Amino acid sequence: MSGHSNKMSLEFSSRSENEAFARVAVAAFVAQLDPTLEELTDLKTVISEAVTNSIIHGYDNNPEGIVTITAEIEGDQIMLTVSDRGHGIEDVELARQPLFTSKPDMERSGMGFTIMENFMDEFEVTTELGAGTTIRMKKRIESKKALYN
Ligand SMILES: Nc1ncnc2c1ncn2[C@@H]1O[C@H](COP(=O)(O)OP(=O)(O)OP(=O)(O)O)[C@@H](O)[C@H]1O
Ligand SMILES: [Mg+2]
Repeated sequence: MSGHSNKMSLEFSSRSENEAFARVAVAAFVAQLDPTLEELTDLKTVISEAVTNSIIHGYDNNPEGIVTITAEIEGDQIMLTVSDRGHGIEDVELARQPLFTSKPDMERSGMGFTIMENFMDEFEVTTELGAGTTIRMKKRIESKKALYN
């Protein structure tokens, strides 16, 4: 596989029941890198956080929105994007602060971006008001096989 990337993409309605689908789909795709349980849990968590953000913030829970996920494996790295064509974010720097949330009334803790940033090696937000938001993330997977070699 070295030298060639392996890609997949998914599009689904912005419904909270699809969050579990997205987690499982990404986990199944990344399984070929033989990740540790901890790595797998981290990836599923960041996908959940990003997809939830698209649904509740990007689309205000409107189920007519479309969330797109892409995943690409290159060598021992996984690159993930989660995109929506929703509201966008006015002040990304503020939004990325730990504990910042624009929906405190809904019992959100404002930790989604902080979790994504901490669980992944690289994390980037691109957004445009009224146009949508894309999260790009990368993580190197320490294959379980490597532990025995
Ligand atoms: N896809 C998105 N579209 C529009 N706004 C977003 C999007 N993702 C995040 N935001 C904004 O960034 C803020 C911070 O997001 P973050 O995930 O860190 O916290 P939260 O979603 O408010 O709370 P938590 O993730 O802990 O439930 C959100 O409150 C929201 O204002
Ligand atoms: Mg969040």
